[in-house]
Amino acid sequence: MKNISVIGAGTMGNGIAHVFAQNGYTVNLIDLSEDSLVAGIVNITKNLDRLLVKEKITETIKNATLTNINTFTSTEKGVKNADLVVEAATENEDLKLKIFKAIDQFAPKNAILATNTSSISITKIASATNRPEKVIGMHFMNPVPIMKLVEIIRGYSTSDQVTKTIMDLSLRLKKTPLEVNDYPGFVANRILMPMLNEAIETLYNGVAGVYEIDNVMKLGMGHPMGPLQLADFIGLDICLSILNVMYDGFKNSKYAPCPLLVNMVQAGKLGIKSGEGFYDYSESKKAIKISNRFI
Ligand SMILES: NC(=O)c1ccc[n+]([C@@H]2O[C@H](COP(=O)([O-])OP(=O)(O)OC[C@H]3O[C@@H](n4cnc5c(N)ncnc54)[C@H](O)[C@@H]3O)[C@@H](O)[C@H]2O)c1
Repeated sequence: MKNISVIGAGTMGNGIAHVFAQNGYTVNLIDLSEDSLVAGIVNITKNLDRLLVKEKITETIKNATLTNINTFTSTEKGVKNADLVVEAATENEDLKLKIFKAIDQFAPKNAILATNTSSISITKIASATNRPEKVIGMHFMNPVPIMKLVEIIRGYSTSDQVTKTIMDLSLRLKKTPLEVNDYPGFVANRILMPMLNEAIETLYNGVAGVYEIDNVMKLGMGHPMGPLQLADFIGLDICLSILNVMYDGFKNSKYAPCPLLVNMVQAGKLGIKSGEGFYDYSESKKAIKISNRFI
């Protein structure tokens, strides 16, 4: 495997492109606009600079990583030589079905098609293609260059050979792959999202403020980040769509998204990426001001 196409240059896509490129793979990074691609490359450069300052990489590795990444606004051109396509576009089922239909048409017949979806059925995504045995979930964690886990999700038809290839490839990226089956939310989000939703519900019910809720979990439970800050970091739109997938998939009210989360997404308050969520990021991503608007 040499040529990797990554669809989507957002939070996850640019991290995935970074990790493949840093490990010597040629990456074609695809997004809808030049602006999104430029923003992705700027972010990769910033993350490489951080690794350089910490002496985790050399200047030569930084430059080689950037050289290994090509950018495309055309999916057809971006996937035509791919050995593996990793889709990391917006978390929306219709969109992913459309993308997989297109990449099935344009990528080489033997290419493996992976999705970084947080919750959408791999089996459903695979059904949009004529190669369901070659479709697999490759769920990286945020931030991709730092986090070790890759949740490898086998769809109903994913072959043993494809699963093994992707497990081995993840090891070559110096990640730890764990194999799970294809049910809504898989493992990571099935456990994480109800906790984040409960933190939002706790705020919504007026039990405590943002600062108190986050610090109860940080200081009391040893979590490195409070649940509301983590929801902002993941993206509130992403959290909402994952909860909706689990709510629809299990028909169980315990996954029903909190009305406050729904309102915030409708208001465009998506967390770090929009400049405001439970915290205000307008001045600096580091200087977090607490918004008590919701309590
Ligand atoms: N944010 C997280 O913490 C996180 C963690 C694990 C997995 N994921 C999953 O990763 C995927 C991407 O999430 P994200 O947080 O990077 O989203 P994001 O909104 O930051 O980025 C999505 C990118 O996809 C692009 N895009 C949309 N349609 C496209 C198309 N047809 N072709 C090419 N590009 C297209 C958008 O322009 C945008 O740049 C989702 O499936 C999400 O569930 C997210």
